[in-house]
Amino acid sequence: MKLKKAVFPAAGFGTRFLPATKAIPKEMLPLVDKPLIQYAVEEAHHSGLKEIIIVTGMGKTAIEDHFDTSFELEILLKERGKHETLKMIENISDLVHFAYTRQKKPLGLGHAIHITKNLINNEPFAVFLGDDVIDAKVPVMRQMSRVFEKLHSTVLAVQKVPKTQTHLYGIIKGRKVAPRIYKVEDLVEKPKANAPSNLAIIGRYALTPGIFEAIEETKPGKGGEIQLTDALRILLKKEDIYAYEFEGTRYDAGEKLGFLKANVAFGLKHREIKDEFRAFLKNLRI
Ligand code: UTP
Repeated sequence: MKLKKAVFPAAGFGTRFLPATKAIPKEMLPLVDKPLIQYAVEEAHHSGLKEIIIVTGMGKTAIEDHFDTSFELEILLKERGKHETLKMIENISDLVHFAYTRQKKPLGLGHAIHITKNLINNEPFAVFLGDDVIDAKVPVMRQMSRVFEKLHSTVLAVQKVPKTQTHLYGIIKGRKVAPRIYKVEDLVEKPKANAPSNLAIIGRYALTPGIFEAIEETKPGKGGEIQLTDALRILLKKEDIYAYEFEGTRYDAGEKLGFLKANVAFGLKHREIKDEFRAFLKNLRI
């Protein structure tokens, strides 16, 4: 049971980031100099996943263009002798294989994942929500695949959040079975009160193909959307599910404040600009 394929649901409307996301997909907003989705695609690649399946929808063609070859641009960069820039734009598209499938209506994350059923073909697979950008020494999905290969069960990435924020996440109830690993006993989507823990589900999943049947059995919830958390609760009745508290710093780049924090953190590490950027921040009288 090895993870080879990675699904990137990217068909949502990104309403938390309007008006920026009216005509530009949220996934294409730049974090310093790369679109958000590229960070997660690179994480997939560094975790040994070479088959990338992106679920797109209306107005998302920029994502396909981004990972496509741009002959005109490559010729121009060659002519101008900009070999390093050329390497940067060639790299990721050459290292992994991309497939695209469309979700006609944003009927929920569970629904978006189910669309990939035929492409996944009864294998375990990884899911990446590109909003969650995670700065980690060992790519988070690599950390998770190690757990997945040991346990042969679905693994959810979790992170401890302050009690005041549990209502914003899917929260697990779990029993610790090894360092950083919990056996999931229940999951609740955005609990209004009495959250069963402060372990929040973050946008990385290593899933068994059993999830597809579970999604088929899931009834639409709020706004007619098929929620992944509801499907996971159904899966939990049939299979073991584990949660893994990953090592790394996560930014919710799908909303304004998280996006700004991520830009500062990645800007301070960026080879070309880090020194000047640090000096600039230090000089701000705030
Ligand atoms: P979000 O809950 O972040 O929704 O979806 P969103 O539309 O992207 O953003 P907001 O909340 O309106 O600002 C989590 C992930 O699931 C995908 C989104 O693209 C995002 O990556 N998704 C969500 C789909 O692909 N299809 C859906 O129907 C819903």
